[in-house]
Amino acid sequence: MALSEIFINDFRNLAKVELQPLTRGFNFLYGQNGSGKTSFLEALYYLGHRRSFRCLSAERLIRYNSDRFNVFSSINDQNGQAIPMGVERLQEGDFRVRINGEDIATISELAAFLPIRLINVHSHHLLEGSPSFRRKYLDWGIFYHNQEFNAVWLRFKRLLKQRNAALRMRASPGELLSWTGEFAEAALRFHQLRLDYLGQLLPFLRAILSKGLSPFLDLSELSIDYQPGWDLRESYSELLAATLFKDLERGHTHYGPHRADLCLKINRISAKEVLSTGQQKLLVCGMIFAQGALLAKLVNKRPIYLIDDLPAELDLQSRSWLISTLAEQQAQIFVTAVEQEAMSGILAQVGSPVKMFHVKHGTITEMSSSEQDKNSIRLL
Ligand SMILES: Nc1ncnc2c1ncn2[C@@H]1O[C@H](COP(=O)(O)OP(=O)(O)OP(=O)(O)O)[C@@H](O)[C@H]1O
Ligand SMILES: [Mg+2]
Repeated sequence: MALSEIFINDFRNLAKVELQPLTRGFNFLYGQNGSGKTSFLEALYYLGHRRSFRCLSAERLIRYNSDRFNVFSSINDQNGQAIPMGVERLQEGDFRVRINGEDIATISELAAFLPIRLINVHSHHLLEGSPSFRRKYLDWGIFYHNQEFNAVWLRFKRLLKQRNAALRMRASPGELLSWTGEFAEAALRFHQLRLDYLGQLLPFLRAILSKGLSPFLDLSELSIDYQPGWDLRESYSELLAATLFKDLERGHTHYGPHRADLCLKINRISAKEVLSTGQQKLLVCGMIFAQGALLAKLVNKRPIYLIDDLPAELDLQSRSWLISTLAEQQAQIFVTAVEQEAMSGILAQVGSPVKMFHVKHGTITEMSSSEQDKNSIRLL
């Protein structure tokens, strides 16, 4: 998937943007603090998610003194067909998302159409944050990989919500037990989808992590364990029955796939406790690229990568690893940095196609190739 044309109006400080990005390779945006780089990535993210990664209220995204923002694009799908897509949000709350002239009702339809991966200053939450970040990571991959996933996930979520509401209302044990079979069945199916996905993901993860990361990160002792949310030696429905009174006391279901976690350890110590900030960033990027590589192999879809402030926290060698690993994804990539010099030399070295854009006071200008050459630093 790739955006072949991008039009943005009145999104944050971006009054009017018209851009023809590379559909494969690096689109590198650089500019001073506050120029609009993150806003540009945020607009693309909004197009694929109908929400921002920075704030909950879409009103904040409308440029000051404007009554609406819109983001339009033409998307090249995996068969090379161009499909128009757009999203518009009005100050009074109305919004519209259209793909190929049709209104889109659900976010899952939108996400299914346009897989986007964002890497930014918060991405280390994948290692450091609560297990919910790692569950979301897994579920993102399964969503694209298995058409059954959305229905299974929605069913499990609905039944869990119902069971928790009944526990809080102190429903009778008899009533609660009568639902156990259906709930356990949904939970086990959900768990099975995660296991199947992990089985396919792990070789990709190992390949990406072991290949280039070794100079900066000794991953020989890396272990990745999946904790399903309960002890698998026990039957889940029997466990639910055995812990029913405890669940009634707690007012929620304690065990199940909603408590699952993916544990990354180095020498048996949690990765977040031993890795430096830059190493964490590389590991997280490796995890995300592994999912992208699997997606490309299984369903011939490549996510669009948005990488905000790529050089942050990384030395030259680490940046170089990141850029060359990204280049291997053969995807459409948008990267930002404050300084052009922080990236241009490395990008030139990788040999992947690159387009550079200068962002200044909310306007985005494509640099001609002679200007790109003039500003790049030859490293080899
Ligand atoms: N609704 C809005 N309307 C107009 N301008 C806004 C709005 N919301 C934020 N801004 C401004 O948009 C500018 C661009 O912010 P953005 O975060 O995109 O900058 P950036 O280029 O990513 O900077 P940095 O390098 O510091 O990360 C900021 O000056 C911000 O104050
Ligand atoms: Mg920024």
